[in-house]
Amino acid sequence: MNEFNAGGGAGTCPVIVTNSDAFYLDPDSTLPEGPRPAIARSEYGIEFLSYPVVRQGFRDKRMQPRDEAYFKSIGASELILEFIREGNLNFMAPDKHDRIRPILVKAFTTSRVDSFRPEMRRIAGELIDQFIGEGHADLVAQFCHEYPISVIAQFVGLPREDVPEISQATMHLRMLGQKPFAPGMPVLEKALRYLHDHVEALVAERRAQPPRDDFLGALITLRDGGEDLTDKELIWGVAFMMLGGHDTTRYTLSGSLMSILETGMWEALAADPAPIPDVIADSMRLHPGTPRQMRVVHEPLEVAGHALVPGDVVSLNMSAAGRDPAVFDESASLRCPRSDPAYDIGFGFGRYACIGQTLARTEMAEAIAMLTSRLADVELTGEPLLKPTGVVAGFDSIPVRFRARNR
Ligand code: HEM
Repeated sequence: MNEFNAGGGAGTCPVIVTNSDAFYLDPDSTLPEGPRPAIARSEYGIEFLSYPVVRQGFRDKRMQPRDEAYFKSIGASELILEFIREGNLNFMAPDKHDRIRPILVKAFTTSRVDSFRPEMRRIAGELIDQFIGEGHADLVAQFCHEYPISVIAQFVGLPREDVPEISQATMHLRMLGQKPFAPGMPVLEKALRYLHDHVEALVAERRAQPPRDDFLGALITLRDGGEDLTDKELIWGVAFMMLGGHDTTRYTLSGSLMSILETGMWEALAADPAPIPDVIADSMRLHPGTPRQMRVVHEPLEVAGHALVPGDVVSLNMSAAGRDPAVFDESASLRCPRSDPAYDIGFGFGRYACIGQTLARTEMAEAIAMLTSRLADVELTGEPLLKPTGVVAGFDSIPVRFRARNR
């Protein structure tokens, strides 16, 4: 294990490798012997590893997510920069972020999410109908992949028949994180152009009709009622919802399903679905769909005795934080509910915390309730496939056999 100088020079810390199944599944098994370090160095930059340090990192205004200047520096085209500037809440300039975020939050009311539950159940039921007769399925490819994009697209108010194309476009938006960046740009641009033009046409269509009470309808009403939001920001903001709500939920949901299979809770949850929200909450700690969030240091700061300087790249490592043995009792075990403390950074924390979290928790709970109520005797038939690294990651394949439950 090497050691490195963590930035400005206040001490050394270990060099670790996070790009492995072993790190995703059990970070401590890959860390140096002895007490777990609070920070380390990896292929991503400076890794924050302990729960309190990661949690504080989310709140620290001296570090910020990557921004337009970063994407310019890697050669992003004007269309991509426009998306970053106008709609990508995570990467846009802080003053603009703080103006737009509350407007989007207003359209995400809990009652709007709750009233969408029957639709979530319908979407989940239709996906299960497609494979239940087979007696086997890949729960990720045949369920977790399609379900969240169908939910988010229809929750926002995009036409149901457009979901396959929207899904393909959001998959291509993954290219935003590709290295090197240039080869993926044409595909990324095509996906952005599609989403922009699609939402733009829909907004025009909606304005010609009586207002509708869905997310898009609410945003248009807010914008036309005088909220400080341009049409460009509205259109790109809706496009960003598709990105924010797809892969994140796909991987988090597959992580929860893995936790349920690992702990043998499937039948208990079929009999009593009440603990499902607690299962999801603690599973996000063990199998996070967003195992890290990236930050760039803008002002000097000291973390756990290490000096960080402007330009340092920080990875707020949620995989490691979630299993911090100094904070979570029996940190490798699922507890429902867990309150020692509860894990509260699965959707980020502070200024950039996820605005879709109520929708995500609700849709995942409805999906698990539907799956457990319809499939019985569910067993893994092979090794689940893991995508262990990246900002969004987790189980890519969960092959199972089952029987259809008598209802
Ligand atoms: C289980 C699923 C989800 C997970 C694990 C998740 C995770 C996160 C995390 C960790 C952040 C903070 C990013 C940072 O600090 O840099 C975030 C932000 C965000 N998420 Fe989610 N998310 C999920 C689902 C959704 C859904 C369904 C939507 C929208 C429909 C959504 C929209 C957003 C948006 C717009 C932001 C940016 C907020 C801001 O910068 O102010 N997410 N999400």
